[in-house]
Parts: sequence; structure tokens; C-alpha cells
Amino acid sequence: MERENWTSRLGFILAASGSAIGLGNIWRFPFITGTNGGAIFILIYLAAILFIGYPILVSEMSLGRITAKNPIGAFKKMAPDTAWPLVGALGVLSGFVILSYYSVVAGWGMSYIFKSLSFTAESNFPAIFLGHISSFTEPIIWHGIFMFLTIAVIGAGVVNGIQKLVKVLMPILFVIIFLLIIRSVTLEGAAAGLSFYLKPDFSAIDFQTFADAISQAFFTLSLGMGAMITYGSYLSKKESISESAGYVLIFDTAVALLAGFAIFPAVFAFGLDPASGPGLTFITLPAVFTQMPFGTFFSFIFFLLLTIAALTSSISMLEVVVAFLVDEYEWKRKKASYLMGFLIFLIGIPPLLGYSSFSNFSFLGMDVLDTYDWFSNSIFLPTGGILTSIFVGHIWGSRNAVKEANKNSRFKIGNIYSILLKYIVPTAVLFIMLFNIYQTI
Ligand code: PFF
Repeated sequence: MERENWTSRLGFILAASGSAIGLGNIWRFPFITGTNGGAIFILIYLAAILFIGYPILVSEMSLGRITAKNPIGAFKKMAPDTAWPLVGALGVLSGFVILSYYSVVAGWGMSYIFKSLSFTAESNFPAIFLGHISSFTEPIIWHGIFMFLTIAVIGAGVVNGIQKLVKVLMPILFVIIFLLIIRSVTLEGAAAGLSFYLKPDFSAIDFQTFADAISQAFFTLSLGMGAMITYGSYLSKKESISESAGYVLIFDTAVALLAGFAIFPAVFAFGLDPASGPGLTFITLPAVFTQMPFGTFFSFIFFLLLTIAALTSSISMLEVVVAFLVDEYEWKRKKASYLMGFLIFLIGIPPLLGYSSFSNFSFLGMDVLDTYDWFSNSIFLPTGGILTSIFVGHIWGSRNAVKEANKNSRFKIGNIYSILLKYIVPTAVLFIMLFNIYQTI
């Protein structure tokens, strides 16, 4: 069968931005910014996105387009009879692991679209959240619904599923973010939040800040697991990669920064703690919404936003796995989507039970979900990123990658890209990965 192609450059940019913009932007970015001292973290994060994220993003897209294959097939085609395809295999494995718990968290978000309708200022938000995640029936139903939506989109195909969906949902996502920002910054007392968000606190920087910024750059740009190789493999030769990657980077960064503008002014306006960690979204924000005028409406659209962002990301993870089976084993797309999606649903059950039946589980002090997250973010994605940059920089050759990325581009990349990719990216990411591992054990 002829390989599908995105029908336009916009289709590709929206799909790749949809993959990039996700829980990482709306749930994770605000809370790590909150716990890392606000604006100073943002500066380091921007540097990480530009100097580490962009080179890998371009490399993955180029590798995907030139081979027109899934991650394993791409390495196999470029370096047959070597161990390099294992890098692609690590990517497919990451797809299974990350999507399984990502869907659990997305399920919490989806349930909050409806739950939050009945919240009042008197509600006990920590108890509601803990009650929700430590029960079984509700979280598993929402995890199941979320996986089913992901499967249905991927089963429908690249153009009829992914592209159609992102063309509808991505504009909605931007509209919602702007509505939320307008609400948040016009609240009385919002200025304190803006100043926390925008005024750098240099005393909050340490090595950990750099490590967090680089890990976040990886996760948010969907790097290190072949998602961008896979999406690049459906890109026509007529389109520019250096430019498309630039747009993806700009959209993704914009949404992360805008999420901060939507969240911090409101949190400060009601005197709540911006550094409350992962609970910021599910405990602090619902409290904020119940206190603001038209709060129920804003709460509804906020959790809708979270779900939309998560869905346009989750489909890219399942696509990695499905593309592999379709390309390499000639599975039918629908069969691959349903079977693998179901398997991923099952793999998500242990992290889902980590707050109830499996609450005794502890790996280096982490619960099941954090353990899945730690392995993927601290080991799998950086390893994938290091090896991909070495492969593209030194084996395929950065010159060849530059040629592919610059095809039909007005914005050309060259020596800086090559130097970053060949030397800076692998060294910096290796350093950070070892630091992260050392910190945890
Ligand atoms: N970029 C997504 C986010 O920020 O939520 C997460 C993600 C999607 C990671 C796809 C990896 C991936 F392949």
C-alpha cells in the first residue's frame, strides 16, 4: 500500500504541534516552573528548547522523512545489519510505557471536566482528588475511554484520523487558552502572580534546575522516542523541515508560557501556593475556579483544554507503535491500533492502582506512576535522544541531515546545528541523565 502523506504543510505542523503540546505543557510545565523559582526556570528552559530541543527535533523529522519508515525501520534502512535499530526499539517501548500512564492522568483530567461542575468554595479539594485517584472504578473507566478515543483516531488513519482531528482541536485549544488568560489576568490581585512568573529569582538556580529544564524540553517536544521520526515519515518531500520544526517549537513554547499566564495570576489572586507541585492542576486550580466569577464555565473549559491537549499527544505515541507493526509486519492499521491500544490500557492498570491496591509499592520511594514516569523521562527518552543525535550527527552525517532539513526552505540551518548536534547535545544530555539517576538513587 502507498504510504499516506499529510495533505498539507499545515496538517503536518498541527499534528506535530499537537503531539508536542500536551500534559507536559499544561500540567507539568506550570508546576515545575512554580517549584523552580518562576522566571529563571523559564529562561533556562528556553535555552534548552533552542539549543538541545530544536537540533533533535530536526534530526528526528529528517530521519523519518528520508526513510519514510517507523523508528525501527528508519534505523534499519539507514544502517542495516547493525545494532542501531535497537534505538528505534527503545522508542517503541517508550511509546508503550509513557502512553499507559499518560492515559491514566488524562483520564483524571477528563473526569474533572464533569466533576468540577458540582464543586463549590466549600469543597475539600485535596480529599476529592485523593478520593478520586484512590478509587478503582471511575479512574479505570476514564482511562478506558481515553484509550478508546486514542485508538479510534489512530485506527482511522494518518489523514482521516490524526490530521482531521488536529485541524479541529488545535484551533479550539488556542481559543480556550486565550479565554483563560483573559479571565486570569483581569482578576484583582493578579499582578503578584505575573511578577512571580516574570521576575527571575537567581537564588533558585542549581544544577537540578538545568536538569529539570532539559528533561522538560525533551518531554514537551515529544523527543527521544521516535514520535517525530514517525510523523516526519508522512511528510512530503516538498515541505521544509527546518521551518516546520521551527513552527512546532514556537507553538509548543507559546502554549507552555501561556499556560503559566493562565494559571499563576489566578493562583496568586486567591492567595494559594504556586509551588504546590503536581497537585497544582487538580487541587489548587479547582479551588481557584470556585472563587472566581463564572468559575464553573472556566473550570469546564480548562479541563477540556487539558483533555484536548492530551489526546493530540497520546495519538502520536500510539502511532509510533502502530506504524512499526504496519511497516514491518504488514499488520492492518485497525488491528494494530485496537490490539496495541488494549495492551497499553492493561499496562496502565498498575500505575492506576498505585494509589489503592498497589499503594504499598515503592521503587526508590516512588509510586507506580512516578516509577513509569522516571524510567521513561530519566532513562528512555534521554538515551533515545543521545543515540539519535550521535547517529544523525556522526553515522548518517550531519551534512546529509542538513541537506534533508533544508529542502525547499527559506530558513536554512547549517554549522551551528551540526556542532550542537554532534557534540553539545549528546554531552549535555548524557551529563544530565547521569545526574538525574545519581540524584534518585
Ligand atoms: N509532548 C507531550 C507533552 O508535552 O505532554 C508528551 C509526549 C508525546 C511525549 C509524545 C512523547 C511523545 F512521543
